[in-house]
Amino acid sequence: MSDFSTRLIAWQREHGRHDLPWQGGHDPYRIWLSEIMLQQTRVETVIPYYERFLARFPDVAALAAAPVEDVMALWSGLGYYARARNLHRAARVIMDEHGGAFPHSATAIAGLPGIGRSTAAAIAAFAWGERVAILDGNVKRVLCRAFGIEGFPGAGAVEKRLWALAAELMPARHGATYNQAQMDLGATVCTRSKPRCEKCPLADICVARDTERIADLPEPKPRR
Ligand code: ADE
Repeated sequence: MSDFSTRLIAWQREHGRHDLPWQGGHDPYRIWLSEIMLQQTRVETVIPYYERFLARFPDVAALAAAPVEDVMALWSGLGYYARARNLHRAARVIMDEHGGAFPHSATAIAGLPGIGRSTAAAIAAFAWGERVAILDGNVKRVLCRAFGIEGFPGAGAVEKRLWALAAELMPARHGATYNQAQMDLGATVCTRSKPRCEKCPLADICVARDTERIADLPEPKPRR
């Protein structure tokens, strides 16, 4: 179990991404914005939007004070527009109900509009160093393959099992690096199609690889 996180942390330090505009700081606002923009959207696409958005809305107070139309205009082209509406809504909640201070735990962050459990955990880990597991699409794929977990990962029982496994795997230290490693591994090595197993730090402990089920895991949503 600890081997899993040790390998990922070492891999992240050597091969992960370190110079992205939202990395290197601990401002929860900047991290939050990056995590929302990165949902369903590639890093390369996000970067120019992220920089324009921050130039116009440098902090949560500026975002909350803006008319929603201005926020939507800066989001135009990124897609999944509910993300922008919720971002704006959450900024107002932070101003009105949290005195302008970003909530200080993953649980409290998950109470904001548009922030699910995994995104809240990512923000808390990156901003506050909270030791809390994430489970987005990339992490689900890594875990299903590495541990040979069957069933559609979006199904309630499977997802519950994955959250429990993710919590169990969480290392005592370097949680932020570990969480970033899983995201980057899923995005760049353990990809949905044509994964680069020869570059993977988990290759020799990967159950899917050992049992030749890389193409079959994670399982797709069952057809009805
Ligand atoms: N997708 C969502 N969050 C991400 C992050 N912090 N790094 C890379 N991809 C991501």
